[in-house]
Amino acid sequence: MNNLSVDNLFNFKKKIVVITGSSGQLGNAFSKLFLSQGAFVIGMDIKNTKLKDKKFFFYKIEISNKKRVERLFHKIILKFKKIDIIINNASISVYSKFDKRKDIEINKTLNSNLKGSLNLINTYLSEHKKMKLKKCNIINIGSIYGFLSPDFRIYGKNDNFSSEIYGASKAAIIQLTKYYSVALSKYNINVNCISPGGIFNKKNPQSKLFLKKYSMRVPKNRIGKEEDLFTALLFLSSDYSEYINGQNIIIDGGLSSW
Ligand SMILES: NC(=O)c1ccc[n+]([C@@H]2O[C@H](COP(=O)([O-])OP(=O)(O)OC[C@H]3O[C@@H](n4cnc5c(N)ncnc54)[C@H](O)[C@@H]3O)[C@@H](O)[C@H]2O)c1
Repeated sequence: MNNLSVDNLFNFKKKIVVITGSSGQLGNAFSKLFLSQGAFVIGMDIKNTKLKDKKFFFYKIEISNKKRVERLFHKIILKFKKIDIIINNASISVYSKFDKRKDIEINKTLNSNLKGSLNLINTYLSEHKKMKLKKCNIINIGSIYGFLSPDFRIYGKNDNFSSEIYGASKAAIIQLTKYYSVALSKYNINVNCISPGGIFNKKNPQSKLFLKKYSMRVPKNRIGKEEDLFTALLFLSSDYSEYINGQNIIIDGGLSSW
């Protein structure tokens, strides 16, 4: 490991980064973060985006459709010759009560949150082997609700509370991080996870009462900001986290610590 300086540590200038859910709140923030570091960002989402940059390439795609993911990945590898970082960030939430759960909600949640990530990882692996690619860092986005229940007492009538099926899909993401970190190790592919706690939504802010009650549950006494996730994301994306594999970094201001 030569030239171990902070500048080299976080040098993303020639990196190719795939980000799913790039039109959403965090996907958009992550895309801008990597663009600001000089990386090429390949955004994927079912929804359109307003983000424009000469290094940003957007593909409108339903990631639970394996054939489409396969076709797109093949195209991307032919164009860019490699993918350095994949951020499995796309996900949907349902807010209806668990005892009123509909089959369609279960299917939609598992398709986007679980099958979508499986499609990306399996498709990338097959291209990695076929095209003899060197290495890749895969970062899955989990959630604290993948290993905790929400505290129902902090939600008002109109607040969106985290559902059981969303939490179960995030638990699966944390587990498949472990599984793939072992299975893909021999291909020089690292798989890690970031599990955020609640993040403030500037465009669609959470209610004042919810923010107050949520903050009281957090030792840091506030809800998270998008920026709180950035250093861990860059760290796990960098070449120097090579010996860190299969980990789940929880970024929740300490909420899950008591
Ligand atoms: N925002 C938070 O407070 C928070 C907290 C913990 C974890 N997370 C996790 O962070 C990630 C991003 O969350 P967010 O708040 O930005 O969500 P968001 O809803 O703003 O964005 C998610 C994006 O994923 C896209 N998407 C969903 N299913 C898709 C599919 N099948 N194919 C293609 N695109 C699809 C959506 O169109 C959307 O643009 C998610 O994995 C979420 O579970 C968010």
